[in-house]
Parts: sequence; C-alpha cells; structure tokens
Amino acid sequence: MWKPLVFILTSFTVHMSEAYRILLISQTLSKSHAILAEGLIKHLTDAGHEITYIQTIPPEKPLPRVTVVDISGILPRRDDFFHTKSIFEKRLNSLNLMTGFMPDILQRSRLIIEHPNIQKLIADNNQHFDVVISEFMFNTIHAGFAGLYNCPLIWFSPSNLNWMVFDLIDEATNPAYSVDAVSSSTLPLTFRERVAELGLHIIKRIVVMLWTTIVDNAVYEKNFAPLIRERRNIAPSFESLAYNGSLVLSNSHPSMSGAVRAPQNFISIGGFHIDRNVKPLTEDLQKLMDDAKHGVIYFSLGSNLKSKHLPNEIKRDLLSMFGKLKQTVVWKFEEDLPERPTNVHTVPWAPQQSILAHNNCILFITHGGLLSITETIHFGVPIIGIPAFYDQYANVQRAVNMGYAKKVDLSYAMTQDLEFAIQDMLADSKYTTRAKELSEIYHDRTVPPEKELVHWVEHVIKTRGAPHLRSPAFIMPWYQKFYLDLAFVALVLIFILKKTLLITIGIKKTIGKQKKT
Ligand SMILES: *[C@@H]1O[C@H](CO)[C@@H](O)[C@H](O)[C@H]1NC(C)=O
Repeated sequence: MWKPLVFILTSFTVHMSEAYRILLISQTLSKSHAILAEGLIKHLTDAGHEITYIQTIPPEKPLPRVTVVDISGILPRRDDFFHTKSIFEKRLNSLNLMTGFMPDILQRSRLIIEHPNIQKLIADNNQHFDVVISEFMFNTIHAGFAGLYNCPLIWFSPSNLNWMVFDLIDEATNPAYSVDAVSSSTLPLTFRERVAELGLHIIKRIVVMLWTTIVDNAVYEKNFAPLIRERRNIAPSFESLAYNGSLVLSNSHPSMSGAVRAPQNFISIGGFHIDRNVKPLTEDLQKLMDDAKHGVIYFSLGSNLKSKHLPNEIKRDLLSMFGKLKQTVVWKFEEDLPERPTNVHTVPWAPQQSILAHNNCILFITHGGLLSITETIHFGVPIIGIPAFYDQYANVQRAVNMGYAKKVDLSYAMTQDLEFAIQDMLADSKYTTRAKELSEIYHDRTVPPEKELVHWVEHVIKTRGAPHLRSPAFIMPWYQKFYLDLAFVALVLIFILKKTLLITIGIKKTIGKQKKT
C-alpha cells in the first residue's frame, strides 16, 4: 500500500525541484509569431516549468502554469497594410515594409517597456526568474530583463537564418556566402548578388547600431538600470547585457534553410510547433478527403492575407479554373462563396496540419510563410508559392531552388500562371519525390525539436548560462582576430631594425672615413 504513495511523493518532489520559472517575451503583432510562442509554452509547461508570458496577442483561453502579461494595443493593428487589395496595388517588398513599419519599429522597444503591465512587473521586487527567453525581432531591449533578474538570457529567432542572429552570439556571417533574412538570392551568389548582400548588410548594420546604442540604450537606462541598482547596487552597461545571450533557439532546419556555419550555442528547433499527434479532421473534411480519388489540392493564403479580399474577377477566374480540375480543392476562404463548382470546398478556418497530414493531400498552394513552409516539409507535400510580402519571396525562392516548389506572382494574371503551374506539378512526380526526400531529412534527427528545446533551456539554467558553449570568436577583441597587434609589433620591429641598420652603416662609414684620413 505505501509503495505507490512513496512513489507519488518522490516523483512530486523531484518534479517540484526541477520546475523553473521562465519569462517569455513575444513582441510581434502577428498570429504566426503567437503560434510559435505558444509552441514554446506548450513544451516547457509540459516539462513542468512555469511561464510568465508577455504577449501582444494573448492566448484565447487560459493555459496551465502560464501567467499572461497582456501588452496588446501597444501598436496599432496594421490590417489595412496586410489587406489583399493593398498588396495588389503595390507589391510590398521588404523596403516598403521597412519604411511602412519604421515608425512602429523605432518606437516598439519604448512602447513595450513603458506599458503599465510591464512597469508593474518590473517594479515588483519579489519577482524572480531562472531564465529569460526573448523573441529576437532585431531589437535587443529585452536583455534588460535578464539584467534585472540576474539570470541567463536565451534568444528565440522566429525568422529564417540571418546574420543578425549570429551577431548576438558569434561573428556575423559573411554576406559573401550567407544571405539576408528577406533576400531571395541563393548560393552560390553571383558577383552582383554578392555586392547587393554586402550593401544590405552594411545598411542594416548601421540601423542596428543606431538602434542599440541610441534607442534601446536610452530605454534601458531609464527603465531597467535604476531598478537593477535597487536590487544589486550597480547596473551593467546595456551593451554587456545585449551581447550576453547564452543560446539562440532558431526556428530553422537544414532541410528548409540549407546548412549554416554556426557556433555550438546555436540550436535549430524548426518544426517544434507542430503537434506530434495530428488532430483529427472534422467529420465532413475527413470524408471529403478520404473520397478524393484524384487527390486534394489545399489552398490557403495564411492568416494575414484574406482570400475573401482578392479582387472579384480573380475570385471568379480561380473558381472556374479550379472547376476544370479532376482534383478536389479545399480553399481557406473566410466567408461564403456562392456559385462554387462541385469539386471546390471552402472552409473559413483550416486545420492546416491535419489537412497536410492526410495521404490524399497532393499539393499545397500557399503564401509561403515560414510556418507553412515548415509544415509542408514536415508532412512532405510539394507547394506552389504565391508570396505577398516580407520573407515570403525568399522562402518560396528557396523552396523552388530546393526542387519541391513552383512560384506564381500575385497579379491579375495569376489564374493563368497558377493553372500552368498546377498542370506541371501534377504531371511530374519529381516535386513530390523531392518533398518526401526533404521530409525524411527533416525527421531524421537524434531527438525531435521539442525535446531539444526543453533540454537546452534546462541546460542553460542548470549550468548558469552555459558559458562553456560560447564561441571563442565572440569573446575575442576584433584587433586580435585580425592579428592587428602582431602587425603593430612587426611594424615596430621593422622600424627598430631599420634604425639600427642605418646607425651601423653610419658608424661603419665614419670608421672608414677615419681610417682613410
Ligand atoms: C552574462 O551571463 C552570465 C551567465 O548567464 C552571467 O553570469 C553574467 O553575470 C552576465 N554578465 C552580465 C554583464 O550581466
């Protein structure tokens, strides 16, 4: 009788002693970023940890072991910006986005930290955390939390590989062989592309430098530094905190992003947000997909871009084009769509992972967001990408280069292009073969990404910041890396040698002269 009781008691205490307190900060007003943050939360709370979650889009229902600090409303929603109509009118490249969002971006650090709920949190002197995990969206202000709670800092990078992430823990990668997060160039780079990457790198480096040294530093000095002094008498400089991250958790994997030169505290966990147990489809979708003899084409433009806002003539053209296909089309369409051909089914909200997991799903038409790309590789489905903004062009171009995708431009001529692309992809099995191949690479890991995530977060806490993982290249001053000190010594030596040589020659000459006389 007592044995199970002891077991329960010991497992309870073991459990308790391993429960850590984690502060998680997600700052981007976008559904896909919230999905990633909730993925982190799920695995960390399942492992028994407690999370305080700072978020602009709070979870729909309360999550166990999670305290939400709601900072929604700090930035205006930019739905107008993401409106399908505005995308048709002006194709939004990353430059439009930069200029469009610059005012928000420059204010974001200050707006977040000065939010009353954050001010309340940081003013509470009894609050403590074992680790801070901050989403890295190109500002480093949240390093201030690690300074305040005197605990290690982990960066979570939601974007594709980019030099700014490596800059936090190692050397920024060389633009000659690594492209920017939003660049659609692929390796090996041509001369022109290499110059363009270098230019982009230099401009962004200047922006980041100004941001960190001026904007974030001021926010830190005003909000964090006084509180840190209250707790520990002295406050470290902002720079020493911002570049003191223990680890980067990166939402990437070589099967999707290609290989990378990375230090040991760079951990790829791409795919961690995908549930191992695929949720069952609704009854009618299940039946529809089971019965699709010729397969299902799934069409979704993601959560920002709404299909219902497509221009009317395009909706009409798409419907008649889909109607000609033998395949069943499942289209994520946010309202009722009248006059649909019998093989076209719309769903206001799509259980995307469950649809992609179905054996009959043969093709995915997508906007090419990073989460959709990850899910398509996870389930091994080829894609047609219709990128609309930001990293989507780059994501789709990478998929095309990797051989499991075709790209179609978002334009008034897109129906025709899409029809050709669908025909090509259905006629040639190489796209599916390639998707399955990459899926195999993606799944063939020593441990699944969610286990990796939990392991490394706990490792950082247990080893007080994992100093043994830090890159030696990061710690070393740049002049030593380039042997400028050696160059200096060599110059001095040459100078001395020259001088002594001249002197000896001078002495010899005078001796010679003396002998002659
Ligand atoms: C940097 O991180 C380590 C490990 O987390 C910590 O011991 C150290 O105090 C931190 N340095 C600063 C300046 O906060």
